[in-house]
Amino acid sequence: MDKIADYNGNLLNHVETLYRPGERDLAVRLVEALGCAVSDTGFKGDGTESFLAVHPNPDDRNMQNNAFYMSPMRPEQQVIEARLRRLSEQDAELKAGLDGYRQAAKVAPFGISHFALRYPTGAAVQSAADRLAEALGATLGDRLNIRVFRPQDADSAGNTLVQGFVYQDVIVSGSFLYGQLIELQSQP
Ligand SMILES: [Fe+2]
Repeated sequence: MDKIADYNGNLLNHVETLYRPGERDLAVRLVEALGCAVSDTGFKGDGTESFLAVHPNPDDRNMQNNAFYMSPMRPEQQVIEARLRRLSEQDAELKAGLDGYRQAAKVAPFGISHFALRYPTGAAVQSAADRLAEALGATLGDRLNIRVFRPQDADSAGNTLVQGFVYQDVIVSGSFLYGQLIELQSQP
């Protein structure tokens, strides 16, 4: 199977992610550093910016399959995110909870919600992690944390995979307060 469109069975289809208004270009730089290609779907819904399709395989830019989408956070979510951010600044218990969650996402990401991209080898995972650090490490500062687990690492998942975990809050499929883990997973 060279093209995803040639596969006729059911498969995991797409993930919908969001970026903050004003961070569309940053979102594109993030996924391109990970080795993905970006297509403009032209679809705007009831917003003003089109949805972008992100292709993990740049050689197969099928916008309906094996893609994830990036579009601006909707106004309804902006209201909630802004309110929760204010509350987290005022409520020490909530702030401590968020800090604990974010720390866990950085050091023990297994079991924290994420989606994953497949790479052919562990070396390809490391290259993607390195490209991302080079491209956006200085720009994002503590908004970006990258950790590559190798099978021999004491705190790895104990399998034969190289697993990179990118924790960031440029694109999320949930809350910007939680941020989003993106796993970079190699094949055995
Ligand atoms: Fe995973």
